Amino acid sequence: EEKEEETCSFTVPNYACQRRTQLHHHNPSLSDALTLLAENAELNEDDGRAVAFRRAAAVLKALPAEVTSVSQLKGLPCLGEHSLRVIKDVLKDGSCSEVETTKHSQRFNALKVLTGIFGVGVKTADRWIRDGIFNLQQLRESQTTLNRAQQAGLDHYEDLNQPVTRADADSITEIVQEAVSSLFPGAQVTLTGGFRRGKMTGHDVDFLLTHPEEGREEGLMDKVVSWLDSQGLLLYQKTSRNSYLESRDGPGRPSSNMDRFERCFAIFKLSRGQTSPPAGHQWRAVRVDLVVTPISQFAFALLGWTGSKLFERELRRWAGHEKAMSLSSHALFDKTQKRYLRASSEEEIFTHLGLSFIPPSQRNA
Ligand code: CTP
Ligand code: MN
Ligand code: MN
Ligand code: MN
Repeated sequence: EEKEEETCSFTVPNYACQRRTQLHHHNPSLSDALTLLAENAELNEDDGRAVAFRRAAAVLKALPAEVTSVSQLKGLPCLGEHSLRVIKDVLKDGSCSEVETTKHSQRFNALKVLTGIFGVGVKTADRWIRDGIFNLQQLRESQTTLNRAQQAGLDHYEDLNQPVTRADADSITEIVQEAVSSLFPGAQVTLTGGFRRGKMTGHDVDFLLTHPEEGREEGLMDKVVSWLDSQGLLLYQKTSRNSYLESRDGPGRPSSNMDRFERCFAIFKLSRGQTSPPAGHQWRAVRVDLVVTPISQFAFALLGWTGSKLFERELRRWAGHEKAMSLSSHALFDKTQKRYLRASSEEEIFTHLGLSFIPPSQRNA
């Protein structure tokens, strides 16, 4: 017979951007199970389901203690029937059959390996799987035509799937910092992404570049990229120019979550001394994202590029649903006042949004 458990129930606000979510939390086995199902849904382009699992996982990450019984979860937001079933299974058996089946399914593993190639998205991976390609060897042996990004991704697959360490990130920061300050005195380099949130490893290193005088950031990307290339530091780079001004949607009505800054998706070549290459190698490849922003948009870009992805999504949902505002990595538009709200710091943006400031280390939703 079941003993009536002593239940201390938790309360958690609805939106992840209202919560403090540390990197380390009390419920990793539950959040891992839900995250795997979210990942699977993303790989199958079921975004609705993916977001539902991501939100559920984020609620568990925000709890102040370990969950021992589902009864403690009564009244919590974002926990649907499906997520609760998964949680119940993991609490009872230590695992959930749906998660285990997914984890071992051929399709999930093939999609993971193939989308793990830089430049390969789910649509391409799915097409390859339908052509009978499930792994790198089959891809290499097939006559499949790869674009330049995918070819670089395949060439450097091993390196790019090794976690980037904090030491690597610091080393790359030094390189980019040196390039920027010698080429463009006064320009500023800011580390963003997971490392700004305090993560010890990442899949890439993300930087924002700006200049304190509006307009002076123009030409920065070309110069920096040419210099890096001349130093033999780039294995691959694709630069896209800023398309913000000519875009018809404008900052108040972004057509997608993608921003329009001038950016560079690169693969750096780090030598011994700059990194610890794998045994027997002289160098390793590391993914780096460089983004240039005018200073007037810097705070929005910083907030938008720090992540986590769910935290960003929740900020935009909060802005739209609760405040009739539209937030992007460029600007914040107030639809009621029909005007843009300026900000020169992340703190000001949180204030405009009527939210308590959440520091980067607590945005790990
Ligand atoms: N981002 C974006 N536009 C893109 C790619 C990323 O705005 N085209 C934002 C994401 O929303 C995220 C941040 O940039 O907030 C960093 O993205 P990413 O490097 O993919 O994730 P990290 O959180 O840094 O995690 P990881 O350690 O895996 O790199
Ligand atoms: Mn990153
Ligand atoms: Mn990532
Ligand atoms: Mn990135």
